[in-house]
Amino acid sequence: MPPVFDQASGHEQVVFGHDRDTGLKAIIAVYSTALGPGLGGTRFYPYAHESDALRDVLNLSKSMAYKASLAGLDLGGGKAVIIGDPKVDKSEALLRAYGRFVQSLNGRYYTACDVGTYSEDMDIVARECQFVTGRTVEHGGAGDSSVLTAYGVFQGMRAAAEVAWGTPSLTGRRVGVAGVGKVGHHLVEHLLDDGAEVVVTDVYEPAVDRVVEAHPEVDVVDDNDALVRSDIDVYAPCALGDAINDESAQLLKARIICGAANNQLAHPGIEDVLEARGVLYAPDYCVNSGGLIQVADELEGFWFERARTAATKIFDTTKAVFEVAATEGVPTAVAADKIAERRMEQVGRLRSVWLR
Ligand SMILES: NC(=O)c1ccc[n+]([C@@H]2O[C@H](COP(=O)([O-])OP(=O)(O)OC[C@H]3O[C@@H](n4cnc5c(N)ncnc54)[C@H](O)[C@@H]3O)[C@@H](O)[C@H]2O)c1
Repeated sequence: MPPVFDQASGHEQVVFGHDRDTGLKAIIAVYSTALGPGLGGTRFYPYAHESDALRDVLNLSKSMAYKASLAGLDLGGGKAVIIGDPKVDKSEALLRAYGRFVQSLNGRYYTACDVGTYSEDMDIVARECQFVTGRTVEHGGAGDSSVLTAYGVFQGMRAAAEVAWGTPSLTGRRVGVAGVGKVGHHLVEHLLDDGAEVVVTDVYEPAVDRVVEAHPEVDVVDDNDALVRSDIDVYAPCALGDAINDESAQLLKARIICGAANNQLAHPGIEDVLEARGVLYAPDYCVNSGGLIQVADELEGFWFERARTAATKIFDTTKAVFEVAATEGVPTAVAADKIAERRMEQVGRLRSVWLR
C-alpha cells in the first residue's frame, strides 16, 4: 500500500531534506504540535524504497504524539528518518547537514536517538542545531534511555497485575521476556527483585548468556514461539514489533501482555481477539514511555530523580487506561488512544485562546 500523506493522515507537516555532497536524504514528519514541539528520534536505516521510509516516518511520528500525550508531557509528536546504511553512510558532515535541516524547522521538531543513531551522534547534530535531546552524559544528556523504559514497563506490569490479580505485585508469577537487549535485561532485574519467576528468549545468544550469568535462576526457552506457548502469567515482548499476530493472539497462555516493544499488535482487530480471550493488554506506548520521559526531562536540564518520579506515574496512567476501557466498554488499546486524543484536543485547544 503506498504511504498516504493527506488530510486523512492528520499530519501537520512533512519535510524532505537532501544534501548532495554528504549524501543526506532525510524526511521529518510532524504529526501534531498541539501540546508542544514534536519530539521523536532519528531512525537511520537502509530503506529499500523512499516510500517505505515515508510510511515509517508517518506512522512513527503519529505514535510519538500519542505517547507524549498519554504520558502527560508538553510535547507533540514528530519523527525523522535518514535513508541509508548507518555503518557505511554515517559521517560527521552528514550528521551536521542533518542538524542544519532539523534547525531549519525552528523548534517545531526536536530530535533524539532511535534505531541506527546514538547519543554521540546527537552531540554532533547539536553542533549545528539547538533542538536536540538524547545527548551524552558529558554534554548534559540523560544517557541510556532503556533504564527508565524498563522501569516504566515494570510499573505498567504492576498496574496490570493489580487489575488481573488484585495486587500490584509480580511475586510468584511467571513472566516471559522476549528479547533481553537493552530494555529486556533491565526488566528482568526488576522482576527478580519483585519475586517473579523469569523465563527469557532472544535470537542473539550473547544477550541470553549475559542474563543467565548474572541470574542463574532465570529459565531460557528456544524461541518466541516456545515462550508464547509456555505456561506463563505475563508475556513481555521486548524485541521487535508485531509480536502479537493472529496466531500468537490465539495461542498465548498468559493473562497479561506488557512489554517494551513498539507496535506490538500486528494489525487492527487483534485487540478484540485478546479481549475476547480475557488477555489483559497493557498498551505498548503507554508502558514504554519511560524513555521519552527521560529524554524530555533533558530539555529542562536532566535530573534522574525527577525523570524517575515521572516514570513511576506510568503505574497510574496504565490503571487509568484500564478504567476507561472498563467504563466505556472498549479494548485497552482503544482506551489509550481515546485518552491521548482527548488531551491533545482539550489542552491543545487552549492555544487558540489569545494571550499577549
Ligand atoms: N530503548 C528504549 O529506551 C526504548 C524505548 C521505547 C521502546 N523501545 C522498544 O523496545 C524494544 C527493545 O528495545 P531495546 O532498546 O532493548 O533494543 P535492543 O536492540 O537492545 O534489544 C532487542 C533484543 O531483542 C532481540 N530480538 C530480536 N528479534 C527477536 C526475536 N524474534 N525473538 C527474540 N528476541 C529477539 C535482539 O537480539 C535484542 O537482544 C524495541 O522494540 C524498541 O523499539 C525501546
